Amino acid sequence: MFKLSICCLQLLITCVCVISQDVEKPNIVFIMADDLGWDDVSFHGSDQIMTPNIDVIAYQGVMLQQYYTDTQGTPTRSALFTGKYPMRLGTQSDSISATEDRGIPITERLLPEYLKELGYETHLVGKWHVGKSRAHYLPTNRGFDTFYGFLDGAVDYYTYNLVETCNGSSFYGLNMYENLEPIEDLNGHLTEVLTDRAVSLIRNHTSTAPLYLHVSHAAPHAGGGLVSLQPPVETIAEQSHIAHTARRLYAGLVSSLDKSVGHIVAALAEKEILKNTLIVFVSDNGAAGLSQNFGSNLPLRGLKSTPWEGAARAVAVVWHPTISHRISNAIFHVTDWFPTLITAAGGNPSNKIDGLDQWATIIKAEQPKRNDVLITIDDLNGWAAFREGDFKIIVGNVTKEKSKYHGKELMALKHDVLPYETVLLESEACLVFKETLDLPLNIEEVYEQRNSSKLAGSDDIPEEVVCFPTFVKGCLFNVTRDPLEAYDLWHAKMDIVRRMSLRLRSLWTEMYPRPTLRGDPRADPAKQNYVWFSWVPNDEEMYEPRKPVPPFPLQVSRDELQYVVDINLNTFRDKLQDYIKNMGESFLKSVGGLFNF
Ligand SMILES: *[C@@H]1O[C@H](CO)[C@@H](O)[C@H](O)[C@H]1NC(C)=O
Ligand SMILES: *[C@@H]1O[C@H](CO)[C@@H](O)[C@H](O)[C@H]1NC(C)=O
Ligand SMILES: *[C@@H]1O[C@H](CO)[C@@H](O)[C@H](O)[C@H]1NC(C)=O
Ligand SMILES: *[C@@H]1O[C@H](CO)[C@@H](O)[C@H](O)[C@H]1NC(C)=O
Ligand SMILES: *[C@@H]1O[C@H](CO)[C@@H](O)[C@H](O)[C@H]1NC(C)=O
Repeated sequence: MFKLSICCLQLLITCVCVISQDVEKPNIVFIMADDLGWDDVSFHGSDQIMTPNIDVIAYQGVMLQQYYTDTQGTPTRSALFTGKYPMRLGTQSDSISATEDRGIPITERLLPEYLKELGYETHLVGKWHVGKSRAHYLPTNRGFDTFYGFLDGAVDYYTYNLVETCNGSSFYGLNMYENLEPIEDLNGHLTEVLTDRAVSLIRNHTSTAPLYLHVSHAAPHAGGGLVSLQPPVETIAEQSHIAHTARRLYAGLVSSLDKSVGHIVAALAEKEILKNTLIVFVSDNGAAGLSQNFGSNLPLRGLKSTPWEGAARAVAVVWHPTISHRISNAIFHVTDWFPTLITAAGGNPSNKIDGLDQWATIIKAEQPKRNDVLITIDDLNGWAAFREGDFKIIVGNVTKEKSKYHGKELMALKHDVLPYETVLLESEACLVFKETLDLPLNIEEVYEQRNSSKLAGSDDIPEEVVCFPTFVKGCLFNVTRDPLEAYDLWHAKMDIVRRMSLRLRSLWTEMYPRPTLRGDPRADPAKQNYVWFSWVPNDEEMYEPRKPVPPFPLQVSRDELQYVVDINLNTFRDKLQDYIKNMGESFLKSVGGLFNF
């Protein structure tokens, strides 16, 4: 009897503990923009496109000023959901095409699967783009309880159709689904349709399970049909101060995205769960620029799908009620969300990933965990970039047309805009934070934060770029001092170059080579009433002829060889010890990688 009651008591305690732990698990609302440029949010200092709702989250939360993504959509999303560098999974380089049989390998368990296991309700609203050719790649087979959105890179904002060329013909069809069913009877602008869904999910959330709501917007990516820029029509007049026609349309897309953030925050408040919600707002990569969406990454260099900061250093803010607001210069990589969110959800992240758990860095401003990051390995295009401490190295043959300071011509104003603080104070998010959480904005502080978010050198954008990498010489920048990648230090810092190129060489040898794009005519939606579907049976063998790892896009210099020899022979004991201590296994691999090549 006695024993039994202790046991009961223990059970009760365990039970109570479990319940109280569950209660403390934060809801996670992860909002991702598509191809939003560094200069296309007003908290980074520009008065041209106003994003007051996003800005409020930035001022009340943490601005991640050194947040790295990959350089395109599929690799970034793959990194987010797996915690691994895309080059390990064959998801690097150009994004998945709608007629391509490729996805995150099903041997990977994705973030929503882990969160589900930790008791979360998991919902994906919007873009997927990490595999749809086979049913087992689809979001509801990979951890999402529900899915409402599109499976490929982009859709038309009004018809939700996607057009792609395959083997010389144009394939087109509907690409919008609720779970596995195409949605044929939809009306409205895509950003608003997705926002309504997100708001509805929040309002309907009645269970005690915590919520993981992943809102993956199409905006401000160019439309996936044949028309490029499609903002909601009523947002266009609001942007009449912008002189450049296409930029004005783009600004409308950004502005409706910003309003979406406001509506989501308001819905969380109305539901009384804002006080226990973690909100993340990030872009998947930088803007694609003039030829596509007319976004701007200034003062950063380069466009989407290049190794420059303009492509890979993205807008990122995170908010949680216990955070004291600040600007963070911690190096943060998109793979870090995986372990960070698992920790936030009360789980234990695996250590066999590339992502680092930065929960304590975000919540308690603890010492950042990350000192280096593989920014990109792109074997299809032939370049790579790696950051260590202050320095960033870039090697390969990079498309020159996308490597400049793009977008100055987009900035012209026709007339004055409303004062920033008026726009900010009248925003939905500002009112909600003030009224629901008693967190009013302090305008003086806001201006200070806004000033501090400006990047070094941004008032002095160079006319010309100085360094283009070649196969015999890359570029090296101190991106702490020089985020604009304007001052090449390759020759001045040979020791750093040798060390970092060796590490990058070693990472390069770890890649799973990317299959070359091979469109499959069987994907043609015309065969299925003009709806895109999975078309390859799960058990059909993958067409993946084994490819050798292509050569590293930088010749081995005598200097580099000498360096390895020196380390091995002359100062064998001390230096090797030192390096092994600092770099561990990756140093040994570096040396191995060098001789493999
Ligand atoms: C591609 O198009 C050509 C010409 O229309 C056709 O002969 C060929 O069979 C097509 N390829 C595939 C894989 O369907
Ligand atoms: C929310 O609940 C309403 C009323 O039951 C329902 O019509 C709507 O479809 C639900 N929304 C979602 C996203 O499930
Ligand atoms: C570098 O790439 C460009 C295309 O972007 C190509 O025209 C050029 O030949 C390449 N250079 C070398 C050395 O391969
Ligand atoms: C922000 O910077 C501008 C110019 O760079 C300066 O005039 C202004 O006083 C600064 N404001 C604050 C609050 O630091
Ligand atoms: C890089 O620049 C920063 C900022 O100016 C400076 O503090 C740092 O010493 C530089 N790093 C190195 C290793 O020179």
